[in-house]
Amino acid sequence: MRPAATSDRGSDKPDSDPSLAQASFHFRCIGCGSTTHSAEQDFRCVQCQNLLEITDPSWKSSCLSAAALKSVWRERRGSSASLDLSGVWRFRELLPAPQSVQNIVTLREGNTPLYELPQLSRVTGVLRLYAKHQGMNPTGSFKDAGMTVAATFARQAGYRWVACASTGNTSASMAAYAARGGMRSLVLVPEGKISWSKLSQALDYGALTCQLRTDFDGCLHLLQELVRSAPVYQLNSINPFRLEGQKTLALELLEQLDWQPPDHIIVPGGNLGNSSAIGKALMEMLDVGLISSLPKLSVIQAGGANPLVRTVREAGGKHLVSVQPETRATAIRIGNPASWEKAVKVLETTGGMCEQVSEVEIAQAKAEIGAEGIGCEPASAVTLAGLKKLLRQGFVKSEESVVLVLTGNLLKDPDYTMEFHRGDLFKGTPGEEASAALNELRRPPIVLDATLDAVIRTLEQAEM
Ligand code: F0G
Repeated sequence: MRPAATSDRGSDKPDSDPSLAQASFHFRCIGCGSTTHSAEQDFRCVQCQNLLEITDPSWKSSCLSAAALKSVWRERRGSSASLDLSGVWRFRELLPAPQSVQNIVTLREGNTPLYELPQLSRVTGVLRLYAKHQGMNPTGSFKDAGMTVAATFARQAGYRWVACASTGNTSASMAAYAARGGMRSLVLVPEGKISWSKLSQALDYGALTCQLRTDFDGCLHLLQELVRSAPVYQLNSINPFRLEGQKTLALELLEQLDWQPPDHIIVPGGNLGNSSAIGKALMEMLDVGLISSLPKLSVIQAGGANPLVRTVREAGGKHLVSVQPETRATAIRIGNPASWEKAVKVLETTGGMCEQVSEVEIAQAKAEIGAEGIGCEPASAVTLAGLKKLLRQGFVKSEESVVLVLTGNLLKDPDYTMEFHRGDLFKGTPGEEASAALNELRRPPIVLDATLDAVIRTLEQAEM
């Protein structure tokens, strides 16, 4: 069986890019703090079983100055070299370095837009309101930014098989990067609880796809057992290389904001890898002097899948309060998040909040983001619903600047969107009565005779 990953690069020199030569990293346990050069396949500390993170002790001294980093990264935007075309590897000075450029598996991920939201600014009163749309990544979600790094290290370690448990987006992303990197992929997803569009991506990219009769937490548990007994490399966000890649969301965002930190960044919370990654990036940026203050990073969950909210409120962030998750935002239907301790630390360090929103609030927010001409999947819409709640509570003030991280593309869950517009989404659910207030956001398709008259009459009615 192969080691999952190692920072020991021996005398190997990167094939053609000297900027990859600088970093040499460790794995550090977030519980007992012990460090190692290699990790087991489950990416857990051998002493205390807690999660690992990647650090580079020589990194601060060997790293360029903040001004030099900004200038190198800006210059690369005009380069046509394969590494520079990736919105992740463009920031490679703050990433673990692979042994060779040839190992890098990339689909030109990152480079995602930061949109202004003029209509939602009017609705919320927040004038400086932006959406960082990670759904514009190659496979339609933020997972690609992490997958390019983790798939690279899987390929470098010589694995034939990679695997993940997923609510859909991780599996689509992993399957694509495995295919690009010449590896086979095994997907474990909960039966009936992920959207067809995500599942169909995994199939098309050639994954061996298993729909297990359990939920996401059950799939992840099984995967952890599998990687301990078979030579399979796991690509869930327990894998710290994933989080390193996902850090670049924050680097790219700050670059787009000319390195002026927003007051708030708001992200959805599921398995809590993304909030952990963004938080790590913010702290590293502060450390290196790329920014001079930390934005508050707030995490929003669906009320029916709210383990972090309960962990913070009921256990003071000291131990995980698991839940039996239920939400139509299936991407965040997770009751036992792996990275909860990392996320609690990020909330504490940045001073962010953790909130929950209802199913009706999610549906409304999703339709409102759609009406901006942007759109997102339901899990991403919790950010706007959460912002409204944080404004009501006075935690966010309308004169402050806010970035919503939209994690997945609108086309990731068309069934949800169709049910919403047809008025079926809340039928027979506790949200049915409250959802009547959303009727004016609904745009159901209209079936007509194919006559000019019928179309003109419909246009006239729409004007009324
Ligand atoms: N938004 C989307 C669209 C997601 O797919 C996920 C997670 C999240 C938010 C939550 O991010 O887990 O880092 O807190 N999806 C995973 C998956 C679990 O399998 O695709 P997180």
